[in-house]
Amino acid sequence: MQASARRCLAIVLAAGEGTRMRSARPKVLHEIAGRSMLAHVLAAVGGAGAEDLALVIGPDRPDVAEAARKAAPNAEIFVQTQRLGTAHAVLAARAAIERGYDDILIAFADTPLIEADTFRALRGALDEGATVAVLGFEAASPDGYGRLVTDGQGGLLAIREHKDANDAERAITLCNAGLMAVAGAHALALLDAVQASNAQKEYYLTDIVAGARAGGLATAVRVAPEAEVQGVNDRLQLAACEATAQTRLRDRAMRGGATLIAPQTVWFNADTEIGRDVTIEPNVFFGPRVKIADNVTIRANSHLEGAKVAEGAIIGPYARLRPGAEIGRDAHIGNFVEVKASTIGAGAKANHLAYIGDASVGAKVNIGAGVITCNYDGFAKHRTEIGEGAFVGTNSSLVAPVRIGAGAYIGSGSVVTKNVADEALAVERSQQVEKPGWAARFRAAKSRK
Ligand code: UD1
Ligand code: MG
Repeated sequence: MQASARRCLAIVLAAGEGTRMRSARPKVLHEIAGRSMLAHVLAAVGGAGAEDLALVIGPDRPDVAEAARKAAPNAEIFVQTQRLGTAHAVLAARAAIERGYDDILIAFADTPLIEADTFRALRGALDEGATVAVLGFEAASPDGYGRLVTDGQGGLLAIREHKDANDAERAITLCNAGLMAVAGAHALALLDAVQASNAQKEYYLTDIVAGARAGGLATAVRVAPEAEVQGVNDRLQLAACEATAQTRLRDRAMRGGATLIAPQTVWFNADTEIGRDVTIEPNVFFGPRVKIADNVTIRANSHLEGAKVAEGAIIGPYARLRPGAEIGRDAHIGNFVEVKASTIGAGAKANHLAYIGDASVGAKVNIGAGVITCNYDGFAKHRTEIGEGAFVGTNSSLVAPVRIGAGAYIGSGSVVTKNVADEALAVERSQQVEKPGWAARFRAAKSRK
């Protein structure tokens, strides 16, 4: 049977307490590349073709349940009221398992870098006849992990938890990543047979391997790189996973046709979309929901979140694009320019020191240095509209709500509070006064003293 034709349930365990994070936030809601660890794992099991998702959480964790529903609306939530071990946690989802599946995937929500293909490989092992397929890795320092006890021919006999292992078993470096695939037809029998007769008096999920072998059922191992199965227990491991995730995202951007001059200094979000022939200079940060079209240049030290940038635009250096910024084709957003909830038309330019908030800026508009849209009156936000081809002179304040007509000119230093007609010139400043010879008289008067 094709793996895709097999019905699959994924059970994601997230009932851990995460005390080592020292955080008011549940561990699995901490973020990697701007997305919660839980959402990463739900995406990976979804990507491996699991049509149904069961999430096991601890008691009093409505925040985790809510985050899961947001990331995967079809996720079914089960509560493990007492933390009696990983097999006990899986059995919290008994009602889901009882519905009957070909494949059951078991994942830990605090192992955020796991990829869909790895889960697919585990499902593949079931398809080839295994009843239990375990994900292993070669551990640089195996202390604390369960060891994979094999028969020397690649067959898996048992998993021995560190605390229960003898010296010979502790010398094994092939360790259990914790993630498994179990044939649905046997899952409940294997799980129900698990006893808590071990050093930690816990129901170990890992015991289903020996259980399967005792019943004459086949087991299998698939091996993943250690970096992919790195778990998160504290903020140091969170940062280590972040580094791995960033490397992946940088590689993905470069493979997709973007040039990163100094990849190590560019920070992506898990959902950043980058086109081809995009150049990203050093020290650029992408928050959530950024889409960059082809041929865009993002110059050094820019910060972008919730922004869409159309083809050929140039952003930065030192630009800030905030949520709702939509930058048109070939537009230029230069140094120390902030754009929020605004559309910038094709070919428009705001090259220096400006704030554009709640505005629509037409094509080919020129925004001078120091122009500010005064969008907030202390109570509400108001919009500024600037028609196509208008020229807004340096150091002008546009007090919203206000509309500048197409092709209009705003004289430098104006505080514009009234709408300006198309093609008009608006100047709002006092007349310049000039007193001929005044400076010489002034200096003479001062030097007489
Ligand atoms: C587990 C494995 C070990 C493996 C290691 C990899 C078992 C018995 N051991 O050990 O072989 O090398 O992971 O990191 O499975 N959880 C619950 N409820 C529980 C207990 C755990 O939901 O009652 C969840 C935790 O939130 C966590 C996962 O299960 O996401 C693993 O639990 P943890 O206590 O970290 O297991 P380890 O001792 O690390
Ligand atoms: Mg652990």
